[in-house]
Amino acid sequence: MPTSTWNRHHILSLADFTPVEYDAVLQTAASFREVLSRRTKKVPTLQGQVVANLFFEPSTRTRSSFELAAKRLSADTLNFTSATSSMTKGETILDTAKTYLAMGCDIMVIRHTSAGVPNAVALEMDRLGERVSVLNAGDGQHEHPSQGLLDLFTICSLIDPLQPRLELLKDKKIAIVGDILHSRVARSNIWSLTASGAEVHLAAPPTLLPKLFAEYINDGEASGLDGRRKLFIHWHLEPALRDADFVMTLRLQKERMTAHLLPSLREYHQMFGITRSKLKWCKPNVKVLHPGPVNRGVEISSDLMDDPEFSLIQTQVTSGVAVRMALLYLIGSGKAV
Ligand code: CP
Repeated sequence: MPTSTWNRHHILSLADFTPVEYDAVLQTAASFREVLSRRTKKVPTLQGQVVANLFFEPSTRTRSSFELAAKRLSADTLNFTSATSSMTKGETILDTAKTYLAMGCDIMVIRHTSAGVPNAVALEMDRLGERVSVLNAGDGQHEHPSQGLLDLFTICSLIDPLQPRLELLKDKKIAIVGDILHSRVARSNIWSLTASGAEVHLAAPPTLLPKLFAEYINDGEASGLDGRRKLFIHWHLEPALRDADFVMTLRLQKERMTAHLLPSLREYHQMFGITRSKLKWCKPNVKVLHPGPVNRGVEISSDLMDDPEFSLIQTQVTSGVAVRMALLYLIGSGKAV
């Protein structure tokens, strides 16, 4: 596995990921997928290391798959949930992190409702001169790097299961549809997919696009935000879906909406919900992804979500374990045990 090409200590964002790093994750995850297909699915790679899952916001997939990934690598795991912790008695986030540091934690996996919390903890660990690595498991509306990487792995693996790599997406068209404004997943996906050379088309109502993007919109469509990455923006679904190879749908993140941004769920589904009939605009073998959790019948029709001919949603969850094993391995294997 390619640790020799890996120098990153924390994984906080995909904004500055290099093609070499993407390929290192894809290659390593493919090796771990092979490990996970064996009868004995465990390797001793991180034996003696401690991985703490510090979740200050609810999660099913990310939290459980990081825990399983750490266990498959033989690391010891600690699981923290803010609601049942001493934060209810006034302890701060940084003091909580230092408490886990004092227990000998090697890797902290952090999810928080506020953007920047994993970065703040990473800065504090670096300031203290500690070798602890921080992995961002989703911070506010900022980023969700491990989800971006598992989505990349899922798509690349479909094209070449044995050698998933970034360049496979060079000529692909990928649509990202829905609540772009509040989606940290969309931000990580935009970084990774545009880095591959794929054409990425965003489709959302104007109220669910970041204001920055609105400046680039002309008659409902825009292109090439920085002239290098192939990013296109649409207020309507059809141009985004036309001849698309992959469609990524997003949940409406009502918990992050501070204003009334939508007409009604029914109308939203009619305009931006992914259904079998709308997939006719795409390439015939189009595949649909969703990071989960899904609101059935809103951003995607229930029948489509369950149709293995189109839906990669369960594959994404399976990919998540191998990709998170790869991330823990790549940042953990350089640490002295
Ligand atoms: N995709 C994702 O982050 O799901 P969870 O909130 O269940 O972790």
